[in-house]
Amino acid sequence: METKNLKILYPKETIQERVTALAGQIYHDYQPEEVLVVGVLKGSFVFLADLVRELKLPLIIDFVRLSSYGNSLTSSGTVKILKDLETSITGKNVIIVEDIIDTGLSIKVLKDEFTKRQPRSLKICALIDKNFRRKVEIDADYVGITMDRDYFIVGYGLDWAENYRQLPDICSIEP
Ligand code: IMP
Ligand code: MG
Repeated sequence: METKNLKILYPKETIQERVTALAGQIYHDYQPEEVLVVGVLKGSFVFLADLVRELKLPLIIDFVRLSSYGNSLTSSGTVKILKDLETSITGKNVIIVEDIIDTGLSIKVLKDEFTKRQPRSLKICALIDKNFRRKVEIDADYVGITMDRDYFIVGYGLDWAENYRQLPDICSIEP
């Protein structure tokens, strides 16, 4: 693997603070109800693991995996659900957990599909929001960190070509 020049952008302490704050907001909004936490593979796995351990609610966990659309084709029609839920979401409080929302295309496809299944409620929780990159109108209900500059970031579940997901801090790839 080609080695990249990485710089810590959000250290693990900052991430932990944000995750605790998100868990607090979610708890406040849902307690005492049960929630179904849906992680979007693979990027959300570290965030989800930390978030649910801070979330003092009755909850169950499921995962989906989406196809990525690559760099050239960005029509939302090209995002597909590669691995679907194993649980029915009808009548449940669903929280989709994403690592990062960039153009918004992936999460839009997922939200539209899930809406058809008639959950009791449906919200999106994203650790990182690259707001200014949006190509479709969609917002997360819970956001950990809003980025205002365009870095490509890795670590804490986020990858570059499947590498660096295991880093405890979120790092930018420097030129
Ligand atoms: P969107 O459909 O453009 O919002 O794409 C979101 C997905 O792109 C995320 O779930 C990530 O998997 C990936 N992604 C976007 N920006 C980054 C980044 O800076 N680092 C790593 N993955 C990213
Ligand atoms: Mg992802």
